[in-house]
Amino acid sequence: MKHHEWIAILDYGSQVTQLIARRIREQKVYCEIIRFDTKAEELAGRAPRGIILSGGPAGVADAGSPLCDPALFELGIPILGICYGMQLTAQTLGGKVHPGLKREYGKAMMQVTKDCPLFQGLEKELQVWMSHGDKVEAMPAGFEAVAESDNCPYAAMQNPAKKIYGVQFHPEVVHTPQGAKMLGNFAFNVCGCSGDWEMSKFIEDNIQAIRAKVGSDHVLLGLSGGVDSSVVAALLHKAIGPQLHCVFVDNGLLRYNEAQEVEELFGKAFGIDLHTAHAQDTFLDKLAGITDPEQKRKIIGKTFIDVFVEKARRVGNVKYLAQGTLYPDVIESISPIGGPSATIKSHHNVGGLPDDLNFELIEPLRELFKDEVRAVGRELGLPGYIVDRQPFPGPGLAVRILGDITQDRVALLQLADLRVREEILKMENHLDVWQYFAVLLPIQTVGVMGDDRTYENVVAVRAVESLDGMTADWYKLPYEVMDRISNRIINEVKGVNRVVYDISSKPPSTIEWE
Ligand code: XMP
Repeated sequence: MKHHEWIAILDYGSQVTQLIARRIREQKVYCEIIRFDTKAEELAGRAPRGIILSGGPAGVADAGSPLCDPALFELGIPILGICYGMQLTAQTLGGKVHPGLKREYGKAMMQVTKDCPLFQGLEKELQVWMSHGDKVEAMPAGFEAVAESDNCPYAAMQNPAKKIYGVQFHPEVVHTPQGAKMLGNFAFNVCGCSGDWEMSKFIEDNIQAIRAKVGSDHVLLGLSGGVDSSVVAALLHKAIGPQLHCVFVDNGLLRYNEAQEVEELFGKAFGIDLHTAHAQDTFLDKLAGITDPEQKRKIIGKTFIDVFVEKARRVGNVKYLAQGTLYPDVIESISPIGGPSATIKSHHNVGGLPDDLNFELIEPLRELFKDEVRAVGRELGLPGYIVDRQPFPGPGLAVRILGDITQDRVALLQLADLRVREEILKMENHLDVWQYFAVLLPIQTVGVMGDDRTYENVVAVRAVESLDGMTADWYKLPYEVMDRISNRIINEVKGVNRVVYDISSKPPSTIEWE
């Protein structure tokens, strides 16, 4: 989609490039992360208001280090180089970069020594986060140093006439407390952005774009009830109404009442053409007797495709398949570093469709970060229980029922899980808990009830805090909350006589138990 006002971020492979984009977007300025070697001419054609060169792990003088098109500096578009980006600016324009013998890493205090639009409105002494080996030793002609730290005489530099700036530190991380303000200063004071990128505008623009693309054709969407596919559904429905057809697979492994909620909300309230595959029995039959976690996943994945395809064929004449791909998946394929993260993740998407279902893709959220997707969802009128929903694995409760999966065990876990969620949702700060759920263990333990001895199931409760699910800490739930969860599960869920709390972090544990 075309944006009238945007900033280009060239990615040199820093682990925190995404944060630059997030900080810029928080200022309501649209930005995109693009390839480090994008040609100046191509970029000029897309007319960004500013260009940011990101940090990166390489040294500018290393053989094969990612370089920029030198013509970028002749475009007359404001440029900000961050860390490696500053060194690249200095080297390209005839300055000197000293290869670092030791890395400077961590917090530093920086003195602002000259007026510079980046630091407008800020104190003269600022805490910044350094993480670099190389540093600029001699500035290119036309540049002056505007800030210094103990280790870095050129902690920031500028050429105001050409609107080219460089900072040796990372303004995008939280350890540079005024960093977001500095990036805002670049966007507003240097690039002249107005900061009018709102989710309402995103929706408006996207609806036009979707209508233009789809025309009178039809679109199919696999709706799971998760945040991403729900927001895609609401957006497409607003754009093309009855030309959207959703397929929802009820695999019988969803949370308590979830399938009914999806049908009520999307089928009834929104009035979307919703095709539910009531496939609970199919899934349970195929899972009968299976206890190996990987096998469970494989069976569920394959059965999902079969059921989905059968429904999809019945919808008929459809040209497009909509998917909830998000921006982080897109960015990972741009980084010069490559490696395992460089392939687009597909586990959320419907992969492995037969060739004759030759859909073209529509991915209306591919420009958005998760928090922006939630904001779009709210704007489109989706309820909080959908937009703030915690992550839920594709194989559902199957990977939370250790051992055999039966209808009874699914029903038991659904009730126990409901109690966990109800009690945690009562906590004011429940959005700080990344994920929380119950797990049904494959063992029984002894208990007493009245004068009788019981021999029943154990439920484990898992709650974690995390930023991206890659690492996680077990959540320190208040004792009162644990107490209520335990009491309610044992008293209200028949067949459970013991509740335990999982106090392991990831790594070495995982969030799920299987
Ligand atoms: P683990 O258990 O690997 O989970 O620490 C990390 C995050 O991924 C979710 N998860 C899955 N999501 N299909 C999915 O779509 C899966 O097979 C799957 N397994 C785990 C998990 O809930 C957590 O958020």
